[in-house]
Amino acid sequence: MLRIGLLGCGNVGHIIAQHRQGFEIVALFDKIPGRAQELVEISGGKVFSDFASFIQEDFDLVVEAASVNAVYRYGEDVLSHGKDLVVLSVGALADVEFRDRLIGAARAHKKKIRIPSGAILGLDNIKIGQISRIDRLSLVSTKNPGSLGVQAGEERRLIFKGKANDCIRQFPKNINVAIALGLAAGREADVEIWADPATDRNIHEIFVEGEFGDVYIRVRNVPSPDNPATSYMAALSILTLLRNLEEPLVVGT
Ligand SMILES: NC(=O)c1ccc[n+]([C@@H]2O[C@H](COP(=O)([O-])OP(=O)(O)OC[C@H]3O[C@@H](n4cnc5c(N)ncnc54)[C@H](O)[C@@H]3O)[C@@H](O)[C@H]2O)c1
Repeated sequence: MLRIGLLGCGNVGHIIAQHRQGFEIVALFDKIPGRAQELVEISGGKVFSDFASFIQEDFDLVVEAASVNAVYRYGEDVLSHGKDLVVLSVGALADVEFRDRLIGAARAHKKKIRIPSGAILGLDNIKIGQISRIDRLSLVSTKNPGSLGVQAGEERRLIFKGKANDCIRQFPKNINVAIALGLAAGREADVEIWADPATDRNIHEIFVEGEFGDVYIRVRNVPSPDNPATSYMAALSILTLLRNLEEPLVVGT
């Protein structure tokens, strides 16, 4: 059975531990040791108080469900210790220099970096942008001001309009999906973020136009109960990624 190490034991970490099936969680690490401790009973994993000893443990793959900063800090070490890496805080890969280093480490150690679909759908076929012309790639995200960590106003209001790489610097906890879209399509996404006090969903609308035709996807996500910035579907997408890793039939890649 696949053995995993969990880097980040917050909201997503808890959902992964609660729903684990088809894989074993053997090691837990969080910068707040108490958070990792909370998962011992549900996951059966062992808590490590420092990353250096966590990464020495015998497992196949690290699931990062921590932060952009954790990916910067530990990503290369994970790969150089012979473990695959699932990155949920994909915003870290907006930094081209860092991304190239991380990919270099994966190549050198013959390991894989996997990006789950996270809070959206469509990453599978948007990859056609790597081989065929795409003229428009836009993401319009609408969340409750509380989910975005901004002051609530009376009305729906635009709080960011621009390129994905600028957006992730201002909203590192909210707009990972824009970076995932860009990585899949091979071009940077245009992003708008709207704060809407009338919504209780995390809504992502994706517009793609190109040689193939055009696409509109709207995802209305339920926020995670423990962290409204994170959509519940993002945690579920890690679970499906892990379940499918060892399946002989691979659908929709
Ligand atoms: N790709 C996507 O579509 C998508 C969707 C939702 C969330 N995310 C990202 O997934 C990550 C996890 O989300 P969450 O809701 O579980 O967040 P959370 O804040 O509930 O939990 C994160 C946990 O990681 C720990 N942590 C943070 N930085 C760390 C570090 N440097 N070293 C060790 N531990 C560290 C924190 O202490 C916390 O316990 C976030 O970065 C979030 O932005 C991505």
